[in-house]
Amino acid sequence: MIKSTIKGVGFYVPDNVVTNDDLAELMTTNDEWITERTGIKERRHRKNRYDSQETSAYLGFKAAEKAIQNAGLTSKDIDYIVFATLSPDYYFPGCGVLLQDMLGCDTIGALDVRNQCSGFVYSMSVANAFIKSGTYKNILVVGAEVHSFGLDFSDEGRGVSVIFGDGAGAIVLSATEDENAGDILAMNMHSEGKYADDLCTQFPGSKFGWSDRMRKDPENVTNKEVYPIMNGNFVFKHAVTRFPETMMEALNKAGKKVEDLDMFIPHQANLRIAQFVQEKFGLPNEKVFNNIQKYGNTTAASIPIALSEAIEQGKIKRGDLVLLSAFGSGFTWGSVLFEY
Ligand code: UT7
Repeated sequence: MIKSTIKGVGFYVPDNVVTNDDLAELMTTNDEWITERTGIKERRHRKNRYDSQETSAYLGFKAAEKAIQNAGLTSKDIDYIVFATLSPDYYFPGCGVLLQDMLGCDTIGALDVRNQCSGFVYSMSVANAFIKSGTYKNILVVGAEVHSFGLDFSDEGRGVSVIFGDGAGAIVLSATEDENAGDILAMNMHSEGKYADDLCTQFPGSKFGWSDRMRKDPENVTNKEVYPIMNGNFVFKHAVTRFPETMMEALNKAGKKVEDLDMFIPHQANLRIAQFVQEKFGLPNEKVFNNIQKYGNTTAASIPIALSEAIEQGKIKRGDLVLLSAFGSGFTWGSVLFEY
């Protein structure tokens, strides 16, 4: 039987640390509010907001290099790329092809996934299906975001812009028949598109006729139309309902119990959401990994960054049972349960 095993992990974040106090110089906010409501103390922003070098594909490339090396492979061994981002370098084409080029891979397939905060979970599910069907052997799965160029740092956007950060994480998911190797045991994905407007960026969507309006009528374009918008309370309430559902669905499907878990890694959306879920399931602190305090919410990158960091810190060991769960824009949500 073919197993999907995580052979290598890696992450990369820009050097530039932006503290809550730094943000307070740009808008009416403060460290106390941000810490209390989100748990975030700092995040990374690329040094120059208008930089065309440190892009999502580039951050993904840096994380991918580490994951490939960690797997003991070279880029020539990678036979497929799945790239999750909501902040692509170009409106089209996607970041997957840019990464294929940066890594110098052969003309392998490169798929882009547009599922925002759930992007990495969705991407792992796709990669798992390709591995299990015997189609590919070493799939690079990447989540990368550069949010800092596209946030509203005025008071109008403060409810959103204090949350997000830049960064990237990657894994190599490989096929193996080794009976001692880890495997993906269960996964699920969900969506509820009627809530698309509750967490979205309109620009440059075809629904809004943006390119033309930006050229011809820029004076009448408002901040809310070009920057991300979020109905924060509403998203929060859905998140705390959907997280437990998708977690239980994955555990039940694999015939596992909450007590069997060695580590739970929630998408790093808000520390309060993670703590709510932790309390609901009675999980001890050592079985939940959070790093939102340092990186903010990096959407599609948050899970692979956290996974890489938890492994790097020795908090996840080979053979451990790990659950990844995400909820976000779409709405979309889902989980991947695996043995490392
Ligand atoms: O990853 C994708 C999924 N995203 C999420 O899961 C995020 C879910 N939502 C959240 O995390 C929270 O809703 C937020 C952190 C975004 C906001 O926290 P909240 O407790 O829901 O605050 P709020 O939006 O209800 O705002 C409370 C007050 C408002 O002032 P008034 O109307 O009570 O006077 C806001 O204007 O806080 C004000 N406020 C701020 N004050 C200081 C909003 N943003 C800020 C800010 N600094 N940055």
